[in-house]
Amino acid sequence: MPKEIEITSVLTAYADVSELNKKDISLLTKAAEATKLAYAPYSEFRVGAAICFENGEELSGSNQENSSFPSGLCAERVVLFHAMHQHPNEKIVAIAITVDSEKNPKDRPVCPCGGCLQVLSDLEYRQKMPLRFILKGMGKEVWILEGVKQFMPFRFLL
Ligand code: THU
Repeated sequence: MPKEIEITSVLTAYADVSELNKKDISLLTKAAEATKLAYAPYSEFRVGAAICFENGEELSGSNQENSSFPSGLCAERVVLFHAMHQHPNEKIVAIAITVDSEKNPKDRPVCPCGGCLQVLSDLEYRQKMPLRFILKGMGKEVWILEGVKQFMPFRFLL
């Protein structure tokens, strides 16, 4: 007899940024500032991502589009690849992601795309530690999720 198995994800929803701890507020603020540096003339959808290393240092990135569409890159990968190159031995503990767009406003938090989740998954595998995700849309609500597995319970591992 085949068995149906239900898999659940867990997220913690906060009604307002003020309910978060100081570190999470700081990282989310950095991500929001990064949206202003996005180059997104095609989608007009600005994404900011900020990461925090184990030593407390923070780094941010934004989506960078290109006239040859596939050549652009998401905010998450901009900051992650930079971090992995510049700080190969420093573990990343958290990533905050937020968005800003008049054309396509998102009230609720926006989740990373599949491609970025795969990069994040590989990073977790490499550093043997899951990341804390702090997500906010243009509304007040904030979601916190622990690890890529909350978004993608089945993932590719080489
Ligand atoms: N984008 C990101 O930066 N991160 C994501 O996780 C999803 C999408 C960017 C890519 C593109 O510049 C714009 O948002 C619209 O898709």
